[in-house]
Amino acid sequence: MAEEIKYSGEEIEELNSMASNHLFMHAMQTNDWIKDGLSMYQEGSGCWVTDIQGNKFLDMMGGLWYKSSGYGQQEIADAAYKQMSSISSPPAYSTTPSTVKLSAEVAKLYQDKNCRIFFTSGGSESVETAVKMAKKYQHLNGKEKAFKVISRRFSYHGSTSMAVSLGRASYSDPMGPEMIGTVYVPNYDAYRPPIPGNPSPDEISEWLVKELETTIIHNDPATIAAFIAEPVSTSAGIHIAPDSYWQGIREVTEKYGILMIADEVITGYGRLGEWFGTMVWDVTPDLTTTAKALTSGYAPLGAVIATEKVANAFLGGKKETFSHLLTFGGHPVATAAGLANLKIMKEQKMVENAKEMGSYLFDRLQELRKYKYVGDVRGGKGLLATVEIVKDKGTKEKFSEEDNLYGIMPKLLKERGLLSYRAGDQISMCPPLNISKEEIDIIFNGIESTIIDFENKI
Ligand SMILES: Cc1ncc(COP(=O)(O)O)c(C=O)c1O
Repeated sequence: MAEEIKYSGEEIEELNSMASNHLFMHAMQTNDWIKDGLSMYQEGSGCWVTDIQGNKFLDMMGGLWYKSSGYGQQEIADAAYKQMSSISSPPAYSTTPSTVKLSAEVAKLYQDKNCRIFFTSGGSESVETAVKMAKKYQHLNGKEKAFKVISRRFSYHGSTSMAVSLGRASYSDPMGPEMIGTVYVPNYDAYRPPIPGNPSPDEISEWLVKELETTIIHNDPATIAAFIAEPVSTSAGIHIAPDSYWQGIREVTEKYGILMIADEVITGYGRLGEWFGTMVWDVTPDLTTTAKALTSGYAPLGAVIATEKVANAFLGGKKETFSHLLTFGGHPVATAAGLANLKIMKEQKMVENAKEMGSYLFDRLQELRKYKYVGDVRGGKGLLATVEIVKDKGTKEKFSEEDNLYGIMPKLLKERGLLSYRAGDQISMCPPLNISKEEIDIIFNGIESTIIDFENKI
């Protein structure tokens, strides 16, 4: 579908030349995008975006897992503009009404209504902040040897030095040793279970919770400050654990005085059909890290939510002060955008829609199981789902790197009008929460036709 083109061929060529000479794209090989041409976009509305050549696509990844209220929300742009033209940022050690109001708004949505919010500029900063807060909380409570943090294998918690240590090593590049005191436990996976036989989700959970407890004992509980996990890990493959897993984790962390950090940078603000992912399993963590959908990407913003118990440990004098400062954490333009974003999400019942449309999407995706290379379909909690492509359904063997699924799949999907830059042996979906049934059918049809094409080509 062609839209009005706002950039001439000459301008596009000039932009590509400037990018080729000067731009670093995040986590992309420069030679690859110079060869294929860089994707640049000029506008968006709802789930749809138009590139500078005038081609329209459905963004089934919602940006990089964040465009929850969809593209083109004028009310958010107006709120940011209004804030920037009144006071763009306050003098040092003060704030603005927009930031104060957003803290109260987030608290209203959270399990613990007496929680306290520390604003950051994004997900990695939120994780750094939460880990530091957890360590200081333990010190203030007399657990002075507690510096270790347990995370789950194959997770992703950000790219900054401490956060990257908590994820898989391939994210680190040759950065050197990870954060001292990082301890890993297995992640939840019912497709390739960590124990032999054909265990049920509850049996897997029981084993994993026991494994966590053994790891805690082995490492000495007095040395462990926190356990961090995403309610649903996209980097580990969008596996949905049962109630028994999360409730077991909560019990064990509480038993040993370890703070539970839920990394809700992707799942926070409605993605799983509840305002926060942990609400799906009826668990309240001690700290929750959020970012992306807080503004739906209209401005960079993150927030760490500390329960009243944790926040109260920081009330006192100089010793109890949380000496943590991020110049642009909670920037008023971003908090004004965040307020408008949450207002729209509430008014348009987007979280309810995520639940309903998520079930519809998950049901439709089951139809794909009949194809030769579709090994698994995961999701069913809100609008987060994945289709796993395997070489052999019997053995669950993956395609090799030489098969180049990460090169093939995004191209096949794009030919069908769908954007998913990360597609490979998993085709993941994280569309805006205001998606319609018709748009889900467009996604489904595009994926089905991609899979058929792939089967014929491979
Ligand atoms: C679970 C999780 N935590 C942290 C981060 C880091 O967020 P950011 O890229 O905003 O620093 C991400 C980013 O995708 C994430 O998915």
